Amino acid sequence: MKIDIISAVPSLLESPFNDSILKRAQEKKLVEITIHNLRDYSTNNQKSIDDYAFGGGAGMVLSIEPIFNCIEDLQSKKKFDEVIFMTPDGEKLNQNYTNQLSLKNNILIICGHYKGIDQRIRDFLVTKEISIGDYVLSGGELPAAVLCDAVIRLIPGVLNNETSALTDSFQDDLLAPPVYTRPANFNGWEVPDILTSGNLKEIEKWREKKAIEITKIKRPDLSE
Ligand code: ADE
Repeated sequence: MKIDIISAVPSLLESPFNDSILKRAQEKKLVEITIHNLRDYSTNNQKSIDDYAFGGGAGMVLSIEPIFNCIEDLQSKKKFDEVIFMTPDGEKLNQNYTNQLSLKNNILIICGHYKGIDQRIRDFLVTKEISIGDYVLSGGELPAAVLCDAVIRLIPGVLNNETSALTDSFQDDLLAPPVYTRPANFNGWEVPDILTSGNLKEIEKWREKKAIEITKIKRPDLSE
């Protein structure tokens, strides 16, 4: 999978992709992430990328020109399956959508900033608008990193044990059951006996029962 990200503040994206699972996924060539600095696509002398909103009002708006130039340049080299704009008024991200995205070859993600981006980008170039929740962040970089993390971990081979993504919370609309590790008894706080019994069939049954129980309590909306 190839993911291209357009950002006005690319340094915000350095850390999430340079550690742990996402770093290893890139080293294993399972995903290629390229971050494009929007400023490189500005054609004016000041390298500006934003401007005042037509009609007045507080806040700067990311201009159409540098974003258009960047998208046009990238699209001349590859065809994107999806052009995603990260925005708090987009569709709420969920596991079902990350599953779908993990099957795509080429994704382009646009990070917004300031008061927003020129609406014409959204109207004519963006194919999907995604929000990571009902709260407003300073820009789309952290949401883009969240989206990428959720998608990349689903690509076969990224996690050591492929089944571990399948048993994540929200796959099958169930939250994940509790997990424990050694010691089995910590200052009198004990791990459920079944988990140390060695009876794999019973352990599986216990996990399923717990997943259902927990989902009913914490997320009754999912158990419906
Ligand atoms: N940009 C700012 N806030 C956001 C959010 N909640 N989701 C996606 N992009 C955003």
